[in-house]
Amino acid sequence: MYHHIVVLTGAGISAESGLKTFRDQDGLWEEHRIEDVATPEGYQRDPVMVEQFYNHRWQQLNDPSVVPNAAHEALAKLEREFPGKLLVVTQNVDNLHERAGNRQLLHMHGELGKGRCPRSRQIFTLHEPFGPDNCCTCCIPAQRLRPHIVWFGEMPLGMDRIHDELERCDLFIAIGTSGTVYPAAGFVEIASHHGALTAEVNIAEKDPHSLFHLHYQKMASEAVPQLVDKILKGSLFAK
Ligand code: APR
Repeated sequence: MYHHIVVLTGAGISAESGLKTFRDQDGLWEEHRIEDVATPEGYQRDPVMVEQFYNHRWQQLNDPSVVPNAAHEALAKLEREFPGKLLVVTQNVDNLHERAGNRQLLHMHGELGKGRCPRSRQIFTLHEPFGPDNCCTCCIPAQRLRPHIVWFGEMPLGMDRIHDELERCDLFIAIGTSGTVYPAAGFVEIASHHGALTAEVNIAEKDPHSLFHLHYQKMASEAVPQLVDKILKGSLFAK
C-alpha cells in the first residue's frame, strides 16, 4: 500500500469536460500566440485583448455543460478514501477539481476565477469580468486587477511545497499533461529520484524519452477511476 501520493494534472484531464487543451488539435495555442496572451509583456502591450482571453475562459466555466468528469470525480474519491497523504498539483486554471470535491489541491499556474492586485499581489475572487472598472480594494488609487494566472516568465505558485511533497511521496501520477512546460515537466524526475513509483495517463503514446515507470494510454475518464480503484485496493504494484 502507498502512503503518500502526488498527482499532477494538465489540460488533458479537463478535455472531456469540454475545455480546450493547449497543444492538441484546435488547442488554445492554435488560436492565440502565447506571447500575446500568456506573458507579462503581452499584457502590458494590450491588456484589453488579454482580459478578453481570460474573461472568455472564465465565463466558459459557468456553462452548464462544463462539469467535472469521471477522472476529476475519481481523484475526489481518492482524497476521501485513501488513508495516506494525497496532494493534487494542477497546472489547470479551471475549477473542476474543486467542484469534484478535492481540497488538498494546489493550482501552480493560478486560477481563472481570481484576480490579483498588480501592486500588493493581493488575490481577489472574481465577481465580474476583468476590465478598467474591476479594481482592487487594497490600494489608493485602486489598481486594475490582472488575471491571477502564472504567465510564461513568471514563477509558478507553491513550488517549495511541491518540491517537499515530491521528495516524500512514494507514488507520483501525471494525468493529461504533455510534459513540455517546466518546472512541472521535471516533477517525474524528482519523484523518481527519491524512490517513488511514477505513472502517467495520456491518450498519446508513451514518449520514447519518458521517465515514467508506467504509462496508461487511455482517456483520463477511463483510466483514472481504474487507477484509483487499484490504489484503494492496494493492488497497484503493492509495496
Ligand atoms: N485523456 C488523457 N490525456 C489527454 C486527453 C484525455 N481525454 N486529452 C488530451 N490529453 C493529453 C494530450 O495528449 C496532451 O499530452 O493531454 C495533454 C495536454 O497537453 P497540453 O495541451 O500541452 O496541456 P498541459 O500539459 O496542461 O500544458 C501545460 O502549458 O501553456 C502552458 O500554462 C499552460 O498549464 C499549461 C502548461
